[in-house]
Amino acid sequence: MPDRYETVLRQAAEKFKRGIGPAAQAGIIPYKSENGAWITSPYDGNSWWTGGFWPGLMWQLHALTGDDAFLTEARRVEVLLCDEFRRFEYLNHDVGFMYLLSCGADYKLTGNEQARQDTLHAASLLMGRFNLAGFIRAWNGPDRSGYAIIDCMMNLSLLFWASRETEDPRFVNTAKVHADMTMREFVRPDGSVSHIIELDPKTGARVAEHPGQGYALGSSWSRGQAWGLYGFTLAYMNTEDPAYLNTAKRIADYFIANIRPDGLTNSDFRQPETPERIDNMAGAIAACGLIELARQTGTSAYEQAAYRLVDGLLAHCCDFTDRFCGLLTKCTASYHEDGAGQETNILYGDYFLIEALSKLNGTDPMLWM
Ligand code: GLY
Repeated sequence: MPDRYETVLRQAAEKFKRGIGPAAQAGIIPYKSENGAWITSPYDGNSWWTGGFWPGLMWQLHALTGDDAFLTEARRVEVLLCDEFRRFEYLNHDVGFMYLLSCGADYKLTGNEQARQDTLHAASLLMGRFNLAGFIRAWNGPDRSGYAIIDCMMNLSLLFWASRETEDPRFVNTAKVHADMTMREFVRPDGSVSHIIELDPKTGARVAEHPGQGYALGSSWSRGQAWGLYGFTLAYMNTEDPAYLNTAKRIADYFIANIRPDGLTNSDFRQPETPERIDNMAGAIAACGLIELARQTGTSAYEQAAYRLVDGLLAHCCDFTDRFCGLLTKCTASYHEDGAGQETNILYGDYFLIEALSKLNGTDPMLWM
């Protein structure tokens, strides 16, 4: 089995290496690909939350191949991302996604001291979003001071990393308060999770659930389920708190029960039968979480589910031609059209597919830890 994944990874590395020139010549951070060309982020320029995935992919492929073309391209984008520190009102809680996979990966894999400083800078920005009422604020804007979202479970990895790096527990303490709030307010009795919960920014009391990128209020946005699954697994790996492991298992069981027979993932587990709307990014993220959860628990059902997801993606939705610069097709940013892409190639799908394959191949550099 691993040989098969190694072959796919090498093929992917060749494809993404061909994509470096066009991205660098355009001077952009790829967000998705269309008609054989890279397209940059739809909103907020290089502050858009996905800017870390292209360099993260480069670091994954550098770890696999040792080819310095990937390192050079990752560092080109690191410069662009660090320029965004000067526009910090555009940055939000997603600095975990942005800087852990770029600067954090650079420091982890090469020992680059400036990259360490930049990653700590990002961790301090995330700390600055902590509200003493008990949560990390997600987005900016005057009406969103009480908003927290499930995606933030992944950003907590930046805080866990910062405490290890500095031996200062304030980062991990903050991450734990936010994770505890997420367990309390987001995780439903059936193991599904809400996307957006609004809390009173003065007291931390729950105000409302809001619909987000899923089908409707109270539905089950599959990528949110995947962020929760992988995020709580990582929270357990960082803290050894069994409550986080138990939460990850509950979300995983719910996710597994909703994988399609072909191994692909609907955009929302409670969406209507028609139109068909698939989000393969959710499947790729969940596969990463399930592989780590299987390793933590020794539960083969989680590993088998990860194989179903990865093999489904490889069988039905990977395009190794140059029709797309990227690899994974049928990625959907939001169930309802929001300008960020539907059923197309979107780069963070590629990132998580490569991360999942690297885990199965035994070559994952563990960039979240
Ligand atoms: N904001 C994270 C996501 O769209 O999944």
